[in-house]
Amino acid sequence: MNMIQKLRSLLTRRDKQFLLGLFFFSIVISVIETVGISVIMPFIAVATDFTLIQNNEYYAKVYKFFNIQSEVDFVIYFGVILIIFYIFRSIINLFYFYMLNKFTQSRYHLLAYRLFENYMGLPYKEFINRNSSVMTKSIVGEASNMTGLISAVLFMMSEIFIVIFIYAMMIYVNYKITFLLTVILLLNALLMIKTVSKKIKSAGVIREELQRKFFEIINRSFGNFKLIKLSSNDKDLLEEFGSASYTYAQANITNATLGQVPRLFLEAVGFGVIVFIITYLVWKYDGDVSGALSIISMFVLALYRLMPSVNRIMSSYNTILYNLRSLDIVHNDLMYDMEKLGTEKIIYQQNIIIKDLSFEYEKDKPVLKNVDLSIAKGSKIGFVGESGSGKSTLVDIIIGLYKPCSGELLCDDTIIDDTNIKAWRSKVGYIPQAVYLFDGTVGQNVAFGSEYNEEKINECLKKAKIYDFLTTKEGALTLVGEGGVMLSGGQKQRIAIARALYIDPEILVLDEATSALDDETEKEIMNEIYEISDDKTLIMIAHRTSTLDRCEKIYKLKNGELIND
Ligand SMILES: Nc1ncnc2c1ncn2[C@@H]1O[C@H](COP(=O)(O)OP(=O)(O)OP(=O)(O)O)[C@@H](O)[C@H]1O
Ligand SMILES: [Mg+2]
Repeated sequence: MNMIQKLRSLLTRRDKQFLLGLFFFSIVISVIETVGISVIMPFIAVATDFTLIQNNEYYAKVYKFFNIQSEVDFVIYFGVILIIFYIFRSIINLFYFYMLNKFTQSRYHLLAYRLFENYMGLPYKEFINRNSSVMTKSIVGEASNMTGLISAVLFMMSEIFIVIFIYAMMIYVNYKITFLLTVILLLNALLMIKTVSKKIKSAGVIREELQRKFFEIINRSFGNFKLIKLSSNDKDLLEEFGSASYTYAQANITNATLGQVPRLFLEAVGFGVIVFIITYLVWKYDGDVSGALSIISMFVLALYRLMPSVNRIMSSYNTILYNLRSLDIVHNDLMYDMEKLGTEKIIYQQNIIIKDLSFEYEKDKPVLKNVDLSIAKGSKIGFVGESGSGKSTLVDIIIGLYKPCSGELLCDDTIIDDTNIKAWRSKVGYIPQAVYLFDGTVGQNVAFGSEYNEEKINECLKKAKIYDFLTTKEGALTLVGEGGVMLSGGQKQRIAIARALYIDPEILVLDEATSALDDETEKEIMNEIYEISDDKTLIMIAHRTSTLDRCEKIYKLKNGELIND
């Protein structure tokens, strides 16, 4: 797919309509710019030579029609109209830039939002295969680069019109000088594209690679802070980070410096041409250039306006090249299919049935093989087995995080699939093996994703046997720190238990949820869990057999297969 197709696929119908409007607006602007430049020529001509007023058919008509008293008055009125026109020109330009920026900047909001939405909608299996720092980078960096790219495309569009109109006018006034100018400017543009643009494009690719590395190193280091402290090998890390940030800066230096080259080059050429024109005219008219003053001023003004335009076209072109990589990334990630959740309801009255289920994370490396299982509503069951035997995976499939690769998961007689997975997941309270608490209060963590209800929070905290501990602090308002660092492992687990109970689930799933607790606390919590899950289905993974002693059935997994003891 080429750039335009990708861009188009990222824009909505309304965006395209807005762009079309902007397109016509930019034509209007170009006309105004061209008038603004060309109108100075007759004004200077009239101001320096009053006889023109009577000799020129149009001037004479206007002079008569408005019954103007003297030539000086005529010039004054002309001047006043011009001043009003230039003020109008500025205002309408400002409005145009406002519309342009409004469009491009709000694209950042939309793109970042859609990226976040898409990442959140990734199936779990896809999500864990991705690097979260790369996704962070896309939302923060690439989406904003896209804004740069879109605005560059728009700038280029409007500047191209301006250049065309001014050129047309210049050809009309003096085609010889214009031709000379065209050749020079075209040669310049070609030279720039061949040299500078190429370098800028490759700097853009390097920029993306290094920024990704950047985020990865930061995440890796902050996430393993403790380990790094212990091994005291932070020197290597610093070195790695240093080289990434250095090269990143280098790429930006290349981009920023080379970005100036077209402007400086053009200015040199442009001013050279102006001097050349004046010299040429002096030579041609043998020293008396007063007659050519209006042409000269028109060309000076045209060049004055044209150079920034050509320059902006070139720098926009370079910006596009520099940010092209972002377009690829954003386009690619937004084209990703989001998980289909479905809205159908599901009723759970009898059994969860697993039929001939197999699962693999990677091709030809089965993690679960032909598992058959039936879990009656309200029953309490346990899974045991060696580490890596597939317990967590099986439970993740039961709660609807992974889709079976073959076989089925049924609730009563309904197959759980894209049409009803959302309803199914909402029945599950899950306490994971590794608890992650976000940087907020205990209460916020417990109510995570649901409505905040203080009473209910405290009730759940009591059930999870952590309420008493929290009363020595600030209760549900106690801060947990990022990831829950301000709490012990066991305290985190108990908050995770409270979190699972908060939604009052029909099915409660514990993946080694009590492994970090001492025997005494675990016994207490398990008593509580058995008690509150009286009418709930309880699915547990545990290493301690004592945890599972009240289970009706214990299944053993070995290398992804259920074995009967
Ligand atoms: N995202 C993944 N991609 C690839 N392989 C994976 C992934 N997650 C788990 N595995 C593999 O699947 C197998 C089963 O993992 P699982 O987490 O289900 O084991 P487990 O029985 O829960 O072990 P433990 O008792 O240590 O928690 C392991 O061999 C593991 O390496
Ligand atoms: Mg596990």
